Formats: sequence, C-alpha cells, structure tokens
Amino acid sequence: MTLSPLITLNDGHTIPQLGLGTWPLDDDQVATAVVHALETGYRHIDTAVKYGNEEGVGNGIRASGMDRGELFVTTKLDGQFQGGDRAAAGLEGSLTRMGLDYVDLLLIHWPLPARDEFVSTWKTFERLQAEGKVRSIGVSNFKPAHLERLLAGTDVVPAVNQIQLSPAITRAADREFNAKHGIVTESYSPLGGSGASLLRAPILAQLGEKYGKTPAQMVLRWHIEQGLVVIPKSGNPERMKENLEIFDFALEPQDLAEFAALDEGPGAGNDSDTTGH
Ligand code: A2P
Repeated sequence: MTLSPLITLNDGHTIPQLGLGTWPLDDDQVATAVVHALETGYRHIDTAVKYGNEEGVGNGIRASGMDRGELFVTTKLDGQFQGGDRAAAGLEGSLTRMGLDYVDLLLIHWPLPARDEFVSTWKTFERLQAEGKVRSIGVSNFKPAHLERLLAGTDVVPAVNQIQLSPAITRAADREFNAKHGIVTESYSPLGGSGASLLRAPILAQLGEKYGKTPAQMVLRWHIEQGLVVIPKSGNPERMKENLEIFDFALEPQDLAEFAALDEGPGAGNDSDTTGH
C-alpha cells in the first residue's frame, strides 16, 4: 500500500503531502469515500463547514476503525465564524459534527477583506491552538496583501495557505510569498476542478505515456515536485488509488518545464479580494 510522504510545518507538526479533497460530496457519499480512502492508504482528509459534510467525514473515520492518531483532518471556518470570538463556537460545532476531540488543521476559509475581520479571527485561532483543540492553524485563499496584514497584527505565522492551484493556475507570486514566510502552500482544485479541461491537454497524455502514468498522475506529480501539499477530490475508488500512486517516479526537468504551456497566466482563477464566503 502506498502512503504519502510527510511535510513538516512551521509549528513542528507534519502533514501528509497528499490528502483527499471532499467537496462536493454529501454526508453519505463522503462517509463511503473516506472509508475507501483510508483503506487505500490516504491518511489526510480535507473538509470545511461550508461543504456540509463534516458529519459524514466523522462517520467514515469511525467506520474505518482507523486510530485517530494516524489521521490528519483539516476543516475550515467560513465567514459566519469571522470576527471576535465566533471561531471558538465554529470549531466546537465542527468537532461535534465529526465526533473528534481536535482537528489537525483549522483554516480561515476566505479572507473576505471587505469585512475586515480576519485579523481578530486569527487571534481567536491562536487561542484555540494554545488550548489544544487544533494542532495547526492556517488560512485559505489568502493573497500576499492579506497575509502581510495578518503577519503585522498577530503572533503566530500560519502553517498553511490553501489556494486554488494547478498547472493552469500557477500563482507564482503567492507561492513565493508563502515560502519566504515559512508557510506551506496547499493546492486545492489541483486537477483543475470538476469539469475542467486541464486533464484533457494532449501534452499530459504524451508525457504520461513516457512514464506509464495517467494525465491526473502527471499533474499531481507536478504539485509534489514543487513541495506543494495537494488534495485531489475523487469519490471514485479507482481514481483515488490512481491519485495516490505517484510516489514511484519523478519528472525529468525538461518534462517539468513542459507544464509551462498549460499556464493560463496571472489573471486565471478566483480572486479572493472580491469572492468568498
Ligand atoms: P471523480 O470524483 O468522479 O473522480 P479537483 O481535485 O481538481 O477538484 O478535481 C476533481 C475532479 O477531477 C472531480 O470531478 C473528479 O471526479 C475528477 N478526478 C479525480 N481524480 C481523477 C483522475 N485520476 N482522473 C480523472 N479525473 C479525476
């Protein structure tokens, strides 16, 4: 069975470099998916309050019989939990729904800069971490300008920034900023998201033939080789297995360079100054 390698975060905890994304699976679908994933070798599950499937994630974990200590569970608090102390109630709700005593990683789901509450929210996150209900704390969809403000006004540097990232949406400046500050970049929609054309790009099939791998495996290897944490979503057991079988080969530098042709440029992807929830 393949297990993902671990990456060490700036707080000393480790995160499996590859995990299972769970949006938009519902409670029933996700419970089944989590059982399959854990049987296949996944040890890292990514959810969010907003996905509405935390109960299913908890059910899947329990049904698998896996030791809690072997798992890495991430959840995210959306805008309803921003400001003042609201994140404390948010985390309690997530723990109750999942039936867990702690989460491994808690993220601010979106910066929502127009609301201007992410700095006070982060202070609550710092307290929750000190209380032990969450091991690591981080953010999602934060741009460098948002992080600058966070870093200037708070004590703990986020362990992770989870952003929309793929060979089509590369966000080089964001990744550079994260790396400079010791923040691990985590890629969501790493395969381009559902319905995306990325996986149909002929170059991926061509390169895949050389390595005996599928287009999805080529894309996931692109993430891994750049030190990114990656959470491909699949509800399909075969594709889940396929997505984990990427640790037995490496891309040659000239092949990695070929991915540049897939880059849609700096304007691609969502803009968290104006979107989010
Ligand atoms: P499915 O759940 O039916 O497997 P992302 O992780 O970028 O959001 O992409 C998720 C989308 O890619 C889902 O539609 C998922 O469908 C599909 N997908 C996941 N793994 C693979 C794979 N190995 N090959 C093709 N499509 C995949």
